Amino acid sequence: MQIIRVEDYEDISKKATEILLDRIRTAEKLVLGLATGSTPVLTYQYLVKDHQENQTSYQHVTSFNLDEYIGLPVEDPNSYHTFMDHHLFNHIDIPREQIFLPNGLADNQQQACIDYEKQIQNHGGIDLQLLGIGSNGHIGFNEPGTPFDSATHIVDLAESTRKANARFFDSIEEVPKQAITMGIGSILRSKEILLLVSGEKKSKALARLLEKQVDSQFPASALHHHAHVTIVADKAALQYT
Ligand code: GLP
Repeated sequence: MQIIRVEDYEDISKKATEILLDRIRTAEKLVLGLATGSTPVLTYQYLVKDHQENQTSYQHVTSFNLDEYIGLPVEDPNSYHTFMDHHLFNHIDIPREQIFLPNGLADNQQQACIDYEKQIQNHGGIDLQLLGIGSNGHIGFNEPGTPFDSATHIVDLAESTRKANARFFDSIEEVPKQAITMGIGSILRSKEILLLVSGEKKSKALARLLEKQVDSQFPASALHHHAHVTIVADKAALQYT
């Protein structure tokens, strides 16, 4: 696990952009695993800016998002589909048919999970997975207790996660109670993982992660089982380390 220590959120985003652009520009074909949440927003802005200024192409990129709420229409302002369109996909030249997010509206949700795993595998697996972390250590929507070998599955969201995400909704009642997420096993199958951690509210989670104790009650600790993880974190997040 390599840790890159930087000053602040802006520097995290610059570093993440640099790493992503290196892979995007050098690979003939690239499968990216993408994340939502506030953390990657500025990284996406920098990627868009770079695309506008330098015409970096995404024609050869396929993307799989980590997770999606269950029950929100694709066009709902709070769906992760809308989030990704708004922050990234609408502004770069990635072909629409190369964009994948879990289907939170499927009649058969179990089948939707199986199909998503198959789609990832049919594309040769994820080359680089971008990750954020929840303050309870969740990755994607894998809450504490999720088995480390889990594939894409349906989750009941922890109350703390719903509260944390309520800021995007009008009220907590509107935050969906379930989501579909890549599993910890799916995440660990990525060839490379880039975890971004910013701010004081993530500092305890980051300190726990860096204690290196692997514990299923702390999902991010599964990353210790992966050979190629880079963490980019700022001073505020690193304050207890
Ligand atoms: C959400 C997402 C995660 C994200 C995490 C942290 O619940 N499902 O993928 O990493 O919360 O979010 P933020 O970056 O807003 O702190």
